[in-house]
Amino acid sequence: MVAFVTSALASTSADLSSPVFGHALKADFLFNSSVTMFNHGSYGAVPKKVLSAQYQYVVGVEQFIIDRIDGAWYRDMLLAIRKRVAAYINAPWEDTVLVDNASNAINVIVSGWRFADDEVLLDFSTAYGPFKAYYKWLNATRGIETVTVQITFPVSGPEQIVAALHATLADLKKKGKKPGLCVLSQVTSAPAILLPAKEIISILREEGVPTVLDGAHALGAVPTDLAALGSPDFWMGNAHKWLYAPRSACVLYVSKAFQSAYYPEPTVVDSFGDAFADRFVWSGTRDRSSFLAVSDAMDFREEVGGGGAAGEAATMRYVMDLSRRGANLLAKTWGTGQLAPDSMQGSMANVIVPTTNASSAAAECAKVGSQLKYPHQVEIFAIMQDGLCFLRVMAQIYLELSDYERLASLVNTILGRGQ
Ligand SMILES: Cc1ncc(COP(=O)(O)O)c(C=O)c1O
Repeated sequence: MVAFVTSALASTSADLSSPVFGHALKADFLFNSSVTMFNHGSYGAVPKKVLSAQYQYVVGVEQFIIDRIDGAWYRDMLLAIRKRVAAYINAPWEDTVLVDNASNAINVIVSGWRFADDEVLLDFSTAYGPFKAYYKWLNATRGIETVTVQITFPVSGPEQIVAALHATLADLKKKGKKPGLCVLSQVTSAPAILLPAKEIISILREEGVPTVLDGAHALGAVPTDLAALGSPDFWMGNAHKWLYAPRSACVLYVSKAFQSAYYPEPTVVDSFGDAFADRFVWSGTRDRSSFLAVSDAMDFREEVGGGGAAGEAATMRYVMDLSRRGANLLAKTWGTGQLAPDSMQGSMANVIVPTTNASSAAAECAKVGSQLKYPHQVEIFAIMQDGLCFLRVMAQIYLELSDYERLASLVNTILGRGQ
């Protein structure tokens, strides 16, 4: 077992001390090298170096179980990690904890929320699908109504979303209702766009509505400074997607005003009466090695970009630049466009596929999605949205513009379009 782990993790790109992005970095990951991975953000992909570090934490706990599973070794490391990620998102570390994933975080937040009779939960049509299902469950079990701000694609700009929010708020007022809490995505899942978070949060704050900013796809994908984003009352961001941490680890920020209500869900162990952050240190026996490896993931990002804070910035810049250039290349080759302007994109893009006509779009979309996967081994989602087929394309450090060129021509071939 140990031999398997060490040999699988052994080969990495030659030299991480200089910032060289692109195909050479595929050697740092475990997914099959014949795969073109345009879907990194869905479940993450962990660099070998980070997995090795995680494995060392697993071994360390096994060696000194009593001291380490819940002792100073674990608690000191967790504290250091909370301080590092809090600085990364510009939040106070006292208000920043780790939970398993964004799904867990939304449960922690919303299940503890008390809605008055005239209050609804406000969300956006771009919300992550399973969150919408959770809201349905809240409605069925607790009678909480969810009202949704509708966003239709293609989106012309942030003002379209702000106008839709104003229209929804006005409509609610007419009905004698108001939002008790609003959940919005910093980066939406599919289509993947940046919502104008700062503006939305400020409009809602004027109305007295607290906000949850879902940064599941933001941490490590786009610059995330909670103050610059309008200081949401709650924020969560998965470290296991774009930040390269092992599954699963998610950063949860809760502003001081709301902390008294919050306990880890579903377990509450040793927590009653503890300070907010202390409640999230021990919620039952489990493997917390993925939490401990968050710092190693942040080290990897810095190293790959040439070291230190400048390395982190270079890593993020490469991915964002590649995403923008790649998306424009695809749209230009196909003579189509994107579902939102470049200014609303981060490390993902939504490029419209050149389907023949509206009535064949869904069938062609399914064909493109399945044939890209088999036989072409391209991991990507082809999705229908408002009658249009689009590819959600995720850039990464191990991709290059040539991967986008190949994608452009594969889609042309699948759709039988002349080159
Ligand atoms: C916008 C958004 N929020 C929340 C989640 C849930 O993340 P997790 O599965 O880690 O709980 C996802 C997952 O892709 C997402 O895209």
